[in-house]
Amino acid sequence: MSEPILRVERLRKVFRYSNPDPNSNTADMWFSYLLGLLGKDAGPFGAERRTVVALDGLSFEVGWGEFFGVLGPNGAGKTTLVKVLATVLRPDSGRVVINGHDTSQETARVRASISVVPAAGWLGFDSQLTAGRNLEFWGRIYGLDRKQAHERSFEALKAVGLEEWYSESPGHLSSGMRQRLAVARGLLFHAPMFILDEPTANVDPAAAYQIRDFIRNELNRGLGQTVLFTTHNMSEAEQLCDRVAIVDRGRLLARDRPSALVAALPDRVVEVRLPSRARDALREIRERGIALHVTDYFEGEDSGRLRMQLRSGVDEDSVDRALSSAGLEASSIRRVQPNLEDVFLHHTGRRLDGDA
Ligand SMILES: Nc1ncnc2c1ncn2[C@@H]1O[C@H](COP(=O)(O)OP(=O)(O)OP(=O)(O)O)[C@@H](O)[C@H]1O
Ligand SMILES: [Mg+2]
Repeated sequence: MSEPILRVERLRKVFRYSNPDPNSNTADMWFSYLLGLLGKDAGPFGAERRTVVALDGLSFEVGWGEFFGVLGPNGAGKTTLVKVLATVLRPDSGRVVINGHDTSQETARVRASISVVPAAGWLGFDSQLTAGRNLEFWGRIYGLDRKQAHERSFEALKAVGLEEWYSESPGHLSSGMRQRLAVARGLLFHAPMFILDEPTANVDPAAAYQIRDFIRNELNRGLGQTVLFTTHNMSEAEQLCDRVAIVDRGRLLARDRPSALVAALPDRVVEVRLPSRARDALREIRERGIALHVTDYFEGEDSGRLRMQLRSGVDEDSVDRALSSAGLEASSIRRVQPNLEDVFLHHTGRRLDGDA
């Protein structure tokens, strides 16, 4: 196999800090300081040393031209990973090689190989200039000539659906529109690899569609560029990616094509529909320990629905029997295709969106 464009090897990053931060100048900080002077234990207000393992031995590779997703919930370590790839944060240990260059030794070469769209990237635009001029400025910084900078700026604004805002100040844009402007900035410079940290977070569905369409169809399929993007949206990852790495608490849980991840799931996922009494059905299923996890529950006026991962050895018939013996009649019980949310739940016992 040829050398991949990105190789991440046993990456580890631990954050150590005090809470409250001794430099924070907050009331909590002063309270804890004064109690300390008096030689008293500050109790719940005391400064506490905290250690967070943000990346815990993460390894994976991305091949040239791949569309690769890093899927994980809040706090999984996605932004920390992106910062390490972008050479703005040094890992404690492990190694990253991008386009043949080591991020800890060949920073300039790595930076020339990637175009990064950071999360909350709307910071850093000048509201004295128009949106278009801001992009042109960044284009010039990236080394484009005046004409290229103008053309690319317009093309990038169009890609994120903001072409009509070319002459407006970024200060007049909503936060979702500013996020789109930040994505546009990343599109000015065509490096071999695009790295985008949650490019569709905080963006409405139509704009999210436009951003996805552009990065998948124009950048990746059209121009053949490699894309790594992070998301906590499992259906986005499932629909878009050639391959997905599912991460949680800095660890890799699984990595493969979305269809292969789903196919490898040993658990049977079923959907039960009922004309009524879905709540009773839920209780019955919980009491009998039939399901490993109930992943969806809905009770309406004249219909109800339950979706669940079944415990091993349990099938649709056992669900039917259990419900019937409790006087509940399902209108249908059918096996359904699992999704990446089911894969995440299988590995962690938790939902991707954080609800248990
Ligand atoms: N500068 C920092 N100092 C201390 N802890 C940090 C710092 N940056 C991140 N962390 C911690 O590291 C862990 C991973 O954070 P990170 O921002 O990488 O997660 P994430 O996957 O990007 O989450 P989100 O989906 O919320 O953006 C979290 O527990 C976070 O609290
Ligand atoms: Mg993040």
